[in-house]
Formats: sequence, structure tokens, C-alpha cells
Amino acid sequence: MDHLTKTENSVKWQSPSNIAIVKYWGKKGIQIPINPSISFSLSNAVTETEIVYTAKQSSNEVSLDFYFEGIRNHAFEDKILKYLTQIKSEFKLLTQYHLSIKSKNTFPHSTGIASSASSMSSVVLCLLSIEHKEKQLSKDEFLKKASYFSRLASGSACRSVYAGFSLWGKTGAIQSSSDEYAISLSEIHPVFYDLQDSILIVSSKQKKISSSAGHQLMSLHPYKEARIEQANQHSTQLINALKLGDFESFIRICETEALSLHALMMTSNPSYMLIEANSLKIIEKIRHFRNESGFELCFTLDAGPNIHLLYPKSNKEEITKFIKSELLVYCESDNWIVDEMGKGPKELNKAYYER
Ligand code: PMV
Repeated sequence: MDHLTKTENSVKWQSPSNIAIVKYWGKKGIQIPINPSISFSLSNAVTETEIVYTAKQSSNEVSLDFYFEGIRNHAFEDKILKYLTQIKSEFKLLTQYHLSIKSKNTFPHSTGIASSASSMSSVVLCLLSIEHKEKQLSKDEFLKKASYFSRLASGSACRSVYAGFSLWGKTGAIQSSSDEYAISLSEIHPVFYDLQDSILIVSSKQKKISSSAGHQLMSLHPYKEARIEQANQHSTQLINALKLGDFESFIRICETEALSLHALMMTSNPSYMLIEANSLKIIEKIRHFRNESGFELCFTLDAGPNIHLLYPKSNKEEITKFIKSELLVYCESDNWIVDEMGKGPKELNKAYYER
């Protein structure tokens, strides 16, 4: 990069958000999930992060400045500084260089899309590119490490480092699965290759209760054991459905998971609700449309009121008509985002693992 002086260097990655079909809800120890989860990476909802690193006098401290969409952001800066300080013994670069981190999201502002998965995984991918400039790792090792460190920053971020579907958390169904990092699910039937995700924005307001608070409330939740059992069963069933192209099971698992997640919030102590009246109206409409039309489509929700409507690309035209004529009326300012399954993260100024 021409504008950089000799002591400066930079790396740049783009990393996606992901949507979980089997939900991670509740953790133990250091970011270890109480149950396995399965998600797919999105294509349009991505964060781009550039780290400019400048050699500094040797010190034991991490030093950085953080800019979000061109403006210094002290809240994010503090969060990232805290995280990098926790992992500084694992990355020599963190005490050798001053880091100037510039991040931007390609999805619109204030649309209620959680961005910690895309943002934290993009930061970690940049760190690994710097750390491994000379020391080469295989693509698999690189992504496993990226997933491991992304998990420490934000649980669901560990699933964002792969294209398509990934699994995080130990399950008997797949021997190589782990609580410490996600793995890519490779045995996927073609009917799931081009899944669409139309995100219906019921509300873009910041949520009242953070996911971290929600995870904590699971530790004494009266339904905790039943939830762990359910998520394990759903993971095994979903892995099979994805292999076999069984869309009917996919729909059943996906919707049960979304409603279980929100039921767990309602039955936490204290109880809280993130789903809204318009989310329920949309769910009713989707189920009615499915019964009437026979199309394969289903909904899921993250920890918020917005509805992710999932369906194969072959039904896109009819489903877009249905969204416009029947669902947008329940969305905030007719707001929705068109997305689909993505190809995972990319290094923007140098294809590190494609060399
Ligand atoms: O990664 P966190 O701590 O933001 O938690 C994410 C929780 C859900 O989005 C509700 C579920 C999931 O598996 O992504």
C-alpha cells in the first residue's frame, strides 16, 4: 500500500454474520457453549476490517485505536482492547505493534442485525494474517485457529469463519466437533446450497436485554437440562436432514428452535420478551402461506424481534411477491434485507490462504 511508511503495514478482511438454525443459548467456563449449535454464513451482511500495524517500542501493553465507519469509537475500542489484552500472550504482535483498526459494516445501520459475529471474526482473521505472514499454516489450521479465537471474543463469531453451514459444540453425531471452535459441515445436500434469507425488520431498536445477559440467565433456568437435551437432539437431526435434503425436518427444527429460544427468555428469572406482536403476525402469515401454497419456507429469529425468512432460491419470485404483499406491512418502515448463504470470509488485500 503506497501511503504506508516503512514501519507500517496492513491487512484487511471481510467476514460475514451468520444465522443459527440450532441456537447457542447459555454458556459455561470461558465461552464454552452448554449445547451445540448449527448456522450458515450470510453473504451480504458482512464487516470489513483493516488493521494498520506500526512497530512500537517494546512494551507489555496492547495499544490501539478503533474507527467504526470512519469515526473513532471508544465503546468498541474498549471492548476490543479488553479482548486483545486477554489474549496477548498468544499473539506476539499484540505487544510489538500499535494497531489502528478500521471497521465498517456493509449492511445498513440500525436494522437490528447483530454484528458481533462478523466484526469480531474479521478482527481475529486480520490478527492471524499478521501473525502468520511468515509462518505458513494450512487453510484448515488457519480457519480452526480463527474460529477458536473468534469464539473467545463472541461465541457465535466462531461459526462465521466458514462458508455455508458450520457446527459449534461437541456432539456425538460428528466426532471432530468441539466446544472450543466451530467446524465446517461439508455433507450438505444441494437443496440447501442456495438458501435465501429475507430479513424482515420488525424493529431496529437496540434490544432491552443483551445476549450476554440472556446466556447468564440460562445457568439457573428451570428448563436448562431439557433445553440441552433438545438442542443435542435437534443438532443430530439437522445434520441428517442437511445430508439427506430433508426440507420438512429442516423446517420443523428451525421453527421449533426459534420459538424455544424465545420461550426460554419468557421463562427466565427475571422473565423478558424480545419477540413483538408484529413478529407473531408474520409467523402466522408464513405458516398460513406455507400450508396454502405448499412452498418450502420457514422462519427463524435471533435474540430480537426480526424474522429471518428462509427458502430455496427456486421459490424466490413467488416468495418476494408474498413478502411485499403480506409481510412488509408488519415491518418498520417497510424495511427488509435480502441476503443468502455466503461463501465465508475473504482477505481483501492479499489472499493469504489461497496462495
Ligand atoms: O454470540 P452471542 O453471545 O451474541 O449469542 C448469540 C445467540 C443467538 O444469536 C441467539 C443464537 C446463535 O446461536 O447465534
